[in-house]
Amino acid sequence: MYYGADYYPEHWPEERWPTDAEMMAEAGLNLVRLAEFAWTRLEPEPERFDFAWLDRAIEHLAARGIRVVLGTPTAAPPAWLVRQHPEVLRVRADGRRVHYGHRRNVCLVSPVYRHYTTRIVRAMAAHYRDHPSVIGWQIDNEFGCHDSARCYCEACQEAFREWLAARYGSLDALNRAWGTDFWSHTYRAWEEIPLPYADALPANPGLALDYRRFASDANVAFQRLQVDILRELCPSHFVTHNFMANGFQELNYYDLARDLDFVSWDNYPDLRRSDPAQLAFNHTCIRGWKGANFWVMEEESGAPGTTVISPNPRPGDIRLWSYQAIAHGADAIVYFRWRTCTFGAEQYWHGILDHDGRPRRRYYEVQRMGRELQRIGGQIVGSEVNAQVALIFDWDTAFAFQIQPNNASFDYFEHLKRYFVAFYRRNVPVDIIPWSADLRRYRLVLAPALYVLSPEAAARLRAYVEKGGTVLFDVRTGAKDVYNRVAEGPLPGLVADLCGVTVDEYDSLGPDVTVPLVFDAPIVSPQKLLAHTWCEVLAPQGAKVLVRYGGQYYCGQPAVTVNCYGKGRAVYVGAIANAPAYDRLVDELLSSTGVQPLLDTPPGVEVTARWQGQKRLLFVLNHTGTPQSVSLPGELQDLLTGQRLSGTAVLPPKEVWILV
Ligand code: GLA
Ligand code: ZN
Repeated sequence: MYYGADYYPEHWPEERWPTDAEMMAEAGLNLVRLAEFAWTRLEPEPERFDFAWLDRAIEHLAARGIRVVLGTPTAAPPAWLVRQHPEVLRVRADGRRVHYGHRRNVCLVSPVYRHYTTRIVRAMAAHYRDHPSVIGWQIDNEFGCHDSARCYCEACQEAFREWLAARYGSLDALNRAWGTDFWSHTYRAWEEIPLPYADALPANPGLALDYRRFASDANVAFQRLQVDILRELCPSHFVTHNFMANGFQELNYYDLARDLDFVSWDNYPDLRRSDPAQLAFNHTCIRGWKGANFWVMEEESGAPGTTVISPNPRPGDIRLWSYQAIAHGADAIVYFRWRTCTFGAEQYWHGILDHDGRPRRRYYEVQRMGRELQRIGGQIVGSEVNAQVALIFDWDTAFAFQIQPNNASFDYFEHLKRYFVAFYRRNVPVDIIPWSADLRRYRLVLAPALYVLSPEAAARLRAYVEKGGTVLFDVRTGAKDVYNRVAEGPLPGLVADLCGVTVDEYDSLGPDVTVPLVFDAPIVSPQKLLAHTWCEVLAPQGAKVLVRYGGQYYCGQPAVTVNCYGKGRAVYVGAIANAPAYDRLVDELLSSTGVQPLLDTPPGVEVTARWQGQKRLLFVLNHTGTPQSVSLPGELQDLLTGQRLSGTAVLPPKEVWILV
């Protein structure tokens, strides 16, 4: 298993390099990522390339058996490039061009920037294609970060019009799709079509959605420009990119993942107050973008910080977060960064080593795990997470909700997470999938808030239910077509008959308003089951009522229904609810679909499984600060300690078992 660090030798005197390599090897590291922001070092002036320093750095690493992932440096262009071609600088939604001096400040559509990109990537690829230490590439860095997903420059305007011409074929079709009769926007020439600049009023929703799609495609195309060069010159190397999570929803990540060998991502738990469920959700999303295992290319190894500093990872956190990533399908862990830099914008983003480069607590924790992985990593790599429950994430829907959230406190990712967390707490693995995935391998498919509903998506879900599957839909399903127009028929639009229900009325609630939910079979619950944010009053057309509202003018009206259709069932949840209500719903879904939790554990103890064929590796992680008792199903062996465990065993705080 690869286990490494993001290393910037160019930030340190060359005399230090052998010490770094030695200390890395001592910590069990066998990989570094290099060069991803080193363009000016590699091409100090136009077309003069200098790889000698990087070659020497790699030599020291190679002497210690450390392999290399090279980053292409296109997230931070040299000053000389921007001085010669200021038009490559990105333009913001308010029409202002950004300035040089940060990163991610260029337009990826710019033909000039693409020209320089091609040149540096070709030069690097040609130089390193046969290097025995180099195993793969990370393209650029965090596409879309720092509000860079969309650019509003002249080049983008022109490219957008071409994109629209290819999509719609004719202006008539475009005018119809966007409803340009509204406010007299009918276009008679492609040159008349504007970009959705930020203004006091929102742009046409059809235009806005297409611009998000276009901009996402533009990022994907910029990545592909580099992928193609690397595939041609370095056929034996892998190609990846480091994605983001924590609710980032500016680029279609299924599309971005398609051209890569695998997805990588950057995990900084402390930025989200290290909520283990959030971290699990992040890993699950990342695994979903390609439906495959992934790498963590930047794993937090010290306190994050730019101008102010976040809390330190507590003893045991770095190792526990790393094992949690592995538990969810990570096949490599790479820490950001090897040593905290003494200069530049990230002086306070702490790495494994502090500014002074001496080994301390965090180094020894990384080392402990490095030694463990040297023993057992080989048994884990490549094993797969097999979930029986799928959660559909749809990028058109995400984009449309970014444009019109419907309710000020609605967020699509956060909403999906409500369901995810209910399964997470029961140790039931979930996959994130697109609606176009093969649904047959799942016993239960959740499609919450599938707002933009195409006829193809509706047909797929219908076929899945017909053959015996269970699908859950909820609020705002089918409210929009693919042009971001509101559906004409009663909601939930194309799946109304599948759900056996229509939405009589919807009610967008104010921030502190809640509505009691009354379940059909009452249970004694210590916590109130409540709806908030959004309530739809349902009119069953054949569906059975599971839950009713217990307040507001729709008191007594249906809130949740279930409909038998073909050999399967469609559940419709008309409200956004609090956690106890989702817990209740998910218990019902689990018992009706026969999906079993991996293990029953106390709160704060997470369980996942990875499968090597028929062989199961059970990961048990104690995220709490106290010992936890876990009852095991039989005798199991912990790979980490070799201990045999059975009955009720005690897992120490922040500790992990990998049971076989
Ligand atoms: C991101 C980037 C890194 C670095 C870290 C810390 O995830 O990928 O280059 O900037 O954050 O800020
Ligand atoms: Zn642009």
